[in-house]
Amino acid sequence: MTYLLALDQGTSSSRSIVFDELGNIVAQAQQELPQIYPQPGWVEHDPMQIWNGQLATAREALAKAKLKAADIRAIGITNQRETTLVWNRKTGRPVHHAIVWQDRRGEPVCAQLREQGQAAKIQQRTGLLIDSYFSATKIKWLLDNVAGAREQAQRGELAFGTVDSWLLWQLTGGKLHATDVSNASRTMLFDIHRNQWDAELLAMLDVPASMLPQVLPSSAQYGSTDAVLLGAPIAIGGVAGDQQSALFGQACFKAGMAKNTYGTGCFLLMHTGGHFQTSANGLLTTSAAQTGAEPEFALEGSVFVGGAVVQWLRDGLKAIKGSEEVQALAQSVPDSGGVMVVPAFTGLGAPYWKPDARGTITGLTRGTTAAHIARAALESIAYQSAALLLAMSRDATAAGGTPVSELRVDGGACVNDLLMQFQADLLGIPVVRPAVTETTALGAAYLAGLSSGVYRSRDELSALWRAGRRFLPTLERSRAGELMAQWEHAVRQATAA
Ligand code: G3P
Repeated sequence: MTYLLALDQGTSSSRSIVFDELGNIVAQAQQELPQIYPQPGWVEHDPMQIWNGQLATAREALAKAKLKAADIRAIGITNQRETTLVWNRKTGRPVHHAIVWQDRRGEPVCAQLREQGQAAKIQQRTGLLIDSYFSATKIKWLLDNVAGAREQAQRGELAFGTVDSWLLWQLTGGKLHATDVSNASRTMLFDIHRNQWDAELLAMLDVPASMLPQVLPSSAQYGSTDAVLLGAPIAIGGVAGDQQSALFGQACFKAGMAKNTYGTGCFLLMHTGGHFQTSANGLLTTSAAQTGAEPEFALEGSVFVGGAVVQWLRDGLKAIKGSEEVQALAQSVPDSGGVMVVPAFTGLGAPYWKPDARGTITGLTRGTTAAHIARAALESIAYQSAALLLAMSRDATAAGGTPVSELRVDGGACVNDLLMQFQADLLGIPVVRPAVTETTALGAAYLAGLSSGVYRSRDELSALWRAGRRFLPTLERSRAGELMAQWEHAVRQATAA
């Protein structure tokens, strides 16, 4: 048997998973990553905690699998995207904490760029809407605010990287400063048509080109790990941002294939093949994981509050003691009794883009119970995802393609059968949960397996993908339409202020 090791460095935890060549999980280890909130709207991570936590889980996963470094054919890295690190090339020391993707401190620079009328150019080159979510304004903030940083950067002494680059640097003992196209595409500095850093955008954001990592395809040879770290060197064969990695792990390789990851938020991505398609519905265009030099793209939309609404039921409303209780409580009533929960706690993302919207509950009656609210809260995850998928299908058909015909799902909340059935009912298409739901890590393992000769082609990976359970729509389409109309009405209440 051949084994692959996936390192999955996420926002809230670092995980490592050993897969066998058939894509089965052999062993896994996980460590929480502490969050740092220096002031409202700011979110940071300690770079050394990212690295040490990740390394510890890699060692633990190997030990649990009873495998040695020599048993692992290659490592794949997948990571929280956009999160920005800058470190000194000589000492390896970070000049500051990592600025996390959720951090809003780059917003004033974004506002300037919007005022200068740069939106169309930036979208055309990078596929992105101007937002402090992406790395560009985070790098600028670091150079402008860390004492001496800009001068050092101008002298070529500093390196910028997203989390994948930071891990690559550490894993290779400072030998490799690189990233992959899918991570580069989230910086707002990368021309996703030519797969190159964009000189004009770098000048616009005041970022010296000398700081930037070399960009490779997602499946490529990224050197090997320093021998002291895991007992012997292991080849690093794949790198991709976590959402693109999940799309790959779900074997969504062709235009029109889509996946939704149900985590704290939800990330819905649809492959568009080699076709760069901008959205008329507020979605992003991004680089999909790539195995060669040819650009490949995806449309992406995100729901800010997905599974986090269950945390709110637990910690805010105190309707449940543990997240696992939500399905039983929601199922104790036949439906939500006309209640709609719009969890716009931090505004609404695509396709609404209403930053000022706030959480709203509609349809309360004297008969409403905590169970109805729990059910409506759970259903809100499906409504938001359905609105995104409808937007995506509209974009696809406008471009001469076909609407999405099946949705592959993964992430923590995809184990909730009630939610998955309701998702299928709203969408009117099958919702398919794979046998292995750790598709983010699996995608990274597959990318590493392709470049190291474990797999020969994507067809082989498509054949390995196995459905665990298919949820088929059972609701009449007219009733689904009524429910979506009620949802949109509730969204209007949430955005009315
Ligand atoms: O774009 C942000 C995304 O990559 C973060 O994903 O799963 O680490 O919250 P996650």
